[in-house]
Amino acid sequence: MIENSNSFYPLYLNLLKKVLTDTLWNHEPSRESDGLEFVKSFADHYIRGHAVSLLPLVRFDNLQHCMTEVVSNGIEGDFIETGVWRGGAVIFMQAFLKSLGLQQSRRVWVADSFEGLPVPDKTEHPIEYRAHQNLIEPLYDKFEASLEEVQANFARFDLLDPNVIFLKGWFKDSLPAAPIGKLAIVRLDGDYYESTMDGLNNLYDRLSVGGFMIVDDYGEDTWTECRRATDEFRASRNIRDELIMVDSSCGYWKKSAN
Ligand SMILES: C[S@@+](CC[C@H](N)C(=O)[O-])C[C@H]1O[C@@H](n2cnc3c(N)ncnc32)[C@H](O)[C@@H]1O
Repeated sequence: MIENSNSFYPLYLNLLKKVLTDTLWNHEPSRESDGLEFVKSFADHYIRGHAVSLLPLVRFDNLQHCMTEVVSNGIEGDFIETGVWRGGAVIFMQAFLKSLGLQQSRRVWVADSFEGLPVPDKTEHPIEYRAHQNLIEPLYDKFEASLEEVQANFARFDLLDPNVIFLKGWFKDSLPAAPIGKLAIVRLDGDYYESTMDGLNNLYDRLSVGGFMIVDDYGEDTWTECRRATDEFRASRNIRDELIMVDSSCGYWKKSAN
């Protein structure tokens, strides 16, 4: 168990989740609503709204659960998210560490192009290409947020600390060169096949046994091939660890062996 005499710590994290997702006064867009209605309410709430993260609350709960486990079990390593948009999930990682006084012992890696999703290859990934042209770019601004905007968001929450490291660039360039040692939490949220594969190929071997691999879009198959990338990687590495669904989209597993 985490030793923490500060009884406000769970309250702080719960409030922070609501602020980051803009659900203190507003509701999350209903995923029950039909396609077009959902797209509109999603764009209104997140892209044009004040939310700092696209994650539903249940995925923040999952992230908190994974961070609590690795800290409680003494699993070595930093935390990383690849694909951060306005920074909500990585801000939450840093809030978690700082509220427990652990910011000296673990770093938070913030990896993004800071210029939005790349255009998928039309021939290799036609589903993603179509979604990019018809939905992601025109309606969701290709999930673009600049480095300065993300840093300002960290600063807003008093969490822009020296242990937060920004990795700017396309994952295929930034991740192999990054001076990352061991990782305890890897959160992949780059949406597309190549972005997911770049994260898996470059980070899986750095993930400690007992650490967590979280794949935000694993359950999606109408607009991304994230699941195919993950399934192919798991098969190629003979990974049998149970993949648990957080909701209909996000999946994760706990690494049991190197
Ligand atoms: C869906 S958003 C991430 C949402 C975020 N995790 C949150 O908490 O709201 C996807 C992000 O991935 C980034 N991205 C996708 N593919 C990338 C790549 N290959 N290299 C760098 N950044 C990438 C985009 O710039 C965008 O910020």
